[in-house]
Amino acid sequence: MDIRPRRNRKSAAIRSLVEETKVTTDDFIFPLFLLEGANEKVEVDSMPGIYRLGIDKMLNEIEECLKLGVKAFDIFPVVAEHHKDKLATKSHDLDFFYHKALRRVKDTFPEAAVMTDVAMDPYSSDGHDGIVQDGKILNDETLEVLGKQALSQAQSGADIIGPSDMMDGRVGYIREVLDDNGFTDVSIMSYSAKYASAFYGPFRDALDSAPKSGDKKTYQMNPANQREALIEADLDVDEGADFLMVKPALAYLDVIKLLKDNYTQPIAAYNVSGEYAMLKATAEKGWLSYEPTMAEALLSIKRAGADIILTYHAKEFAQLAK
Ligand code: PBG
Repeated sequence: MDIRPRRNRKSAAIRSLVEETKVTTDDFIFPLFLLEGANEKVEVDSMPGIYRLGIDKMLNEIEECLKLGVKAFDIFPVVAEHHKDKLATKSHDLDFFYHKALRRVKDTFPEAAVMTDVAMDPYSSDGHDGIVQDGKILNDETLEVLGKQALSQAQSGADIIGPSDMMDGRVGYIREVLDDNGFTDVSIMSYSAKYASAFYGPFRDALDSAPKSGDKKTYQMNPANQREALIEADLDVDEGADFLMVKPALAYLDVIKLLKDNYTQPIAAYNVSGEYAMLKATAEKGWLSYEPTMAEALLSIKRAGADIILTYHAKEFAQLAK
């Protein structure tokens, strides 16, 4: 008797019966970039098809996405230079346009899940995720700012807080601040294994948030390390994280699988700006076909173990799936 694996591939009907992994819009969180002017819409040069949007435009975008089945959004502010300072003061100002916009989004679409990013970089005149003093990133002093930022986002309606700063102890610190203020229902999706990656370039273009000096290697992880992800994830679980995230996704599929095999919390993967830009650029050149490569990339992230995918492809994928 011959074992003939091709029998299970002989027709589309059979192939669909034995298909192990499916990506659907239920899996997605769609990152959005918010501009201060309500009606503005500016494409990100290095991310074709992705726009920075004023709140009125963003409400339209969210409405379209909801109709397509994309229900979760991670909203990042584009902060003008004159609003930035060393302590990222605007990051926890309830009158800032970002917080006002969060309230509009939740008032208009209470059914949408809104995630926010906790880190100082978009609001920091140094462009770092923490407080900079004499060229060093201070850890414990930064936690206070992050706590205020997380609290202000919860007060503005955030459903999921996403600490992306990689300071030690921030998940526990933020959990305590939220609980002490009655926000026991607000979730934390920790960027647990966030690497010091070169794939964030287009995102930093979108937000004008690149570090003014130095790099992020004293807080984000070394791309060479896998086991260190377990140290970070253990801490986040102990400190009360509801979800664990790996970032970037495609170059770190082994880390996604590692966390999936070791934890029962849902695992998220952030398919980052540079990963999006690569597919768009090769498609523009005519070197790769966009739709199937996008579908395959997302499938591989899910197959590796991601329950949730943060991806700039979310809306396009949903449109193509209709
Ligand atoms: C901020 C933050 C970054 C990203 C998400 N949150 C950039 C960075 O850490 O420098 C990257 C997202 C992307 O590249 O799509 N801390």
